Amino acid sequence: GKAGHDHYMHKEIHEQPHALRQTISGRVDELGGNADLDIDLDDDFLRTLDEIHVVACGTSHYAGLYMKELLESLVDVTVRVDLASEYEVYDGHDASQTLVVAVTQSGETADTLSAIRRAKASGMTSFAVTNTVGSTITREVDDSLFIKAGPEIGVAASKTFVSQVTTLALFTTYLGRLRGTLSAEDGADLVEHIRQLPNAVQSVLDAEPKIQRLAEQYVDSDAFFFIGRGLAYPVALESALKLKEISYVHAEGFAAGELKHGPLALVTENTPVLAFLNDAAAADDTVNNVKEVESRGAPVIGLSTPDETNSFCEHSIDVPELGRLEPLVANVALQLFAYHVADEMGRPIDKPRNLAKSVTVE
Ligand code: M6R
Repeated sequence: GKAGHDHYMHKEIHEQPHALRQTISGRVDELGGNADLDIDLDDDFLRTLDEIHVVACGTSHYAGLYMKELLESLVDVTVRVDLASEYEVYDGHDASQTLVVAVTQSGETADTLSAIRRAKASGMTSFAVTNTVGSTITREVDDSLFIKAGPEIGVAASKTFVSQVTTLALFTTYLGRLRGTLSAEDGADLVEHIRQLPNAVQSVLDAEPKIQRLAEQYVDSDAFFFIGRGLAYPVALESALKLKEISYVHAEGFAAGELKHGPLALVTENTPVLAFLNDAAAADDTVNNVKEVESRGAPVIGLSTPDETNSFCEHSIDVPELGRLEPLVANVALQLFAYHVADEMGRPIDKPRNLAKSVTVE
């Protein structure tokens, strides 16, 4: 049941510290600065491959984009992230040196299964990152890695997104250490941040009353925009998807630098802007974008570590310092924001209109 929560989604948001402990348990090698993962793919292949293709839909696609940002800064590999429904393999591509990774919570998404089949037909080695043991995807791929988030009932993904990104961060560590591009020291930093995730997420959950008040204050807005750079850009996209999915209000995520190339025309005093000002996400550059929207009268909610970075924002939500995983923790605050906007509007949060938990048609 819902264990005293009004909705499964609320329960699942609050379950995240626990879900993350399961995701991480036994997989962090602090001394070696490495991830201890049970991966059956051939080490020599992982050492020499030169491309990774990620195929996924919706929230899982954004988890893939987060991994791309991590991988490309830490590991010598080119990463392509495609919406599964858009994925094509081109003639002449060296499939033998490419790993295709399906990111899918359910393991049953038809678009993702179909993309994996196209990749396999071209000769690629395939890998799945999924929550569901025994799902169709696990029978199609060469090897699977489980995110271990536990069952998720709400149609909107919450704990599974955070567990996916965490699992992909572990995979990044593993690959970086195996290929020698990630030093033991940098690996130790990353796994230390992974280890601290459950507590960091808990501290954001503890700020729920403040986040709820902000949601109630802005519930009547025309639209909501989320802006971020680097690692925070996929989180901006995910936060916007969450809000639109459960509240039916228009919400969009933008790369902060893109505002001036068009979206700024939408900004008014009735469109709150939620800005990621995390250190690991080029906060200083985003500050300028915040000033651009503030001068158009938009209320700004800044997410950052509790320092001066957000002091000029109309509102701020504190996110503990957590290096490259800080934007992921910021996401939890915006899950709560989306939840409370939707709840205030009386939406059927666990079962939004027109949507299904797993989409088994292409
Ligand atoms: O099970 P999957 O991860 O393959 O599902 C992919 C999307 O359908 C899913 O993430 C969808 O976008 C969620 N409802 C978002 O909250």
